[in-house]
Amino acid sequence: MAGRWKNDLNWSDVTPKAAWQTRRQIMSAAGALMAGGLAGPALAGLGAVASDYSTDAEPNPLEHITSYNNYYEFGTGKDDPARNAHTLTTEGWQVEIDGLVEKPGTWTMDEILKNATLEERIYRLRCVEGWSMVIPWAGFELADLLERVGVQPSAKYVAFETALRPDEMPGVRSPVLDWPYVEGLRLDEAMHPLTILATGVYDEPLPKQNGAPIRLVVPWKYGFKSIKSIVRITLTAEEPPTSWNKANAREYGFYSNVNPEVDHPRWSQATERVIGSGFLAKRVPTKMFNGYDEVAGLYSGMDLKKYY
Ligand code: MTE
Repeated sequence: MAGRWKNDLNWSDVTPKAAWQTRRQIMSAAGALMAGGLAGPALAGLGAVASDYSTDAEPNPLEHITSYNNYYEFGTGKDDPARNAHTLTTEGWQVEIDGLVEKPGTWTMDEILKNATLEERIYRLRCVEGWSMVIPWAGFELADLLERVGVQPSAKYVAFETALRPDEMPGVRSPVLDWPYVEGLRLDEAMHPLTILATGVYDEPLPKQNGAPIRLVVPWKYGFKSIKSIVRITLTAEEPPTSWNKANAREYGFYSNVNPEVDHPRWSQATERVIGSGFLAKRVPTKMFNGYDEVAGLYSGMDLKKYY
């Protein structure tokens, strides 16, 4: 694993190894150091790490990231989550990890984040779903958490489930999807170091419209795989159901890898609209696996037109 992470940070990359609760304190310490005239790289001493997978592209401002969302539990409009997600209560949040694991159980967010074996890093990742953004997530590898609970040899897939709270989620009154929102990954996809659980954006805890307090980010797959507000992670032997596949199997497969050569039945997926590129939003060619070529080996020998 040595050499995977780089330490050439600037101040905006700073995040502590420890829990999100202390991130603000570190940021104010960082601010004090900056004010004192210390150069950015000196801050690496605070223990911050940026993932090697971070792109050099300029991230979208927080304002874009928090105002143009898909979170159908809070409405189907792109601006509905920003308006409605405040009703979600994230205090006392628990994540159940069960199925084919050695140590099934329920974890509080503190137990997850204060876990010394999880290294929180900044991941500045491209996300694509017809449109695209660059988002600086704070998060950790899903693999670290799965290793913690011990994956049984018979496990082949990982299933994820979002909270289902009709009292707090106005969108679930409408049967637009079969609630709760569920997603899944093959185990090798789940264990890839680019698959993360995010708990923050920039130096903030994850905003509710982005899936507080903990959501998946799989940057080489279309955005809908990145399930929000996770309450359950289950290791399974069989391919788990996924919300969009259940809703429309012809349009949404299990894999959902970003692939400009496979069109959605109703539209081309060859280009994406870059959010933040101005009123006459620029379209650019979409790259295979959203440009994350390092995952190609996971699919060698598979016909990605068939396994879309
Ligand atoms: N997770 C849940 N629980 N419900 C949703 O409706 N929408 C998905 C995904 N995760 C969704 C979800 C879709 S379609 C996308 S594009 C991304 O979240 C959007 O994430 P963002 O709003 O943080 O950009």
